[in-house]
Amino acid sequence: MQDTSKHIPNIPEHVAIIMDGNGRWANARAHSRVWGHVRGSRVVSKIVEEADDLGVKALTLYAFSSENWCRPKDEISTLFVLLKKFLKVERNRIIENDIMFRVVGDTSGLPKETLNLIHDLESTTRSNNGLKLTFAFGYGSRNEILDSVNKFIQAHPGEAITEEDLSSGFYAPDLGDVDLLIRTGGDQRISNFLLWQSAYAELFFTATKWPDFKPKEFKSILESVSKRERRFGAVCAKGDLDHSKQEAQINRESLAGNAHV
Ligand code: FPP
Repeated sequence: MQDTSKHIPNIPEHVAIIMDGNGRWANARAHSRVWGHVRGSRVVSKIVEEADDLGVKALTLYAFSSENWCRPKDEISTLFVLLKKFLKVERNRIIENDIMFRVVGDTSGLPKETLNLIHDLESTTRSNNGLKLTFAFGYGSRNEILDSVNKFIQAHPGEAITEEDLSSGFYAPDLGDVDLLIRTGGDQRISNFLLWQSAYAELFFTATKWPDFKPKEFKSILESVSKRERRFGAVCAKGDLDHSKQEAQINRESLAGNAHV
């Protein structure tokens, strides 16, 4: 059974991470960019373990974006090798820890052996009840939104799509909204990652480059975000909202009445 003594109260349930800064980390040490990915892949295992220990329910990691296909061939093949290695090395630990593993995105360019490893681990862990660990690989959020819309149009021609229809057509609909989006590496962008799902996510940008990102920093981010008040766009109770709307209407009428001034 999992030790829950490390769990953080009010922890963000779905945490998504843009693991950025590998290339710059390596270049600053006079290494090639791929070395940064090698070192970054070691961090992945540690952060997965920490997320599980702290009580995160879902962890979605941006491992390869749809735009990353434009990188040099050796860099792409290194990322493929690292993914394969992760699947082999971490397989038993994932199963033993009751983790549900998935990959979302367009994986059609991956070697057959890696695809087999992915499908095997996905089906073995499908009914697991622990951390939902998802790798976004060959993933782009705009593609995901378009795929969902197009699926809907085909199934329901002429009908208007609702928010529920759209999100139920996503690659892993049960993951739901992102509560906290972290980006390492110092840039403050979302880079086509979980755009719809992050509409109300807390954002956290750290200058730490991914290979230097430690479980300790991850934990302190989770602790600080768990204390933030999240209002989801609302600042008042429903009755106050009705009152605010009435006031806004009076203000609009008064402004319209003064338009000639
Ligand atoms: C961005 O850094 C990172 C990526 C494109 C890939 C992230 C991949 C890993 C952390 C390792 C893969 C491991 C597994 C297990 C799949 P960047 O190269 O864009 O860094 P830069 O902004 O410094 O150039």
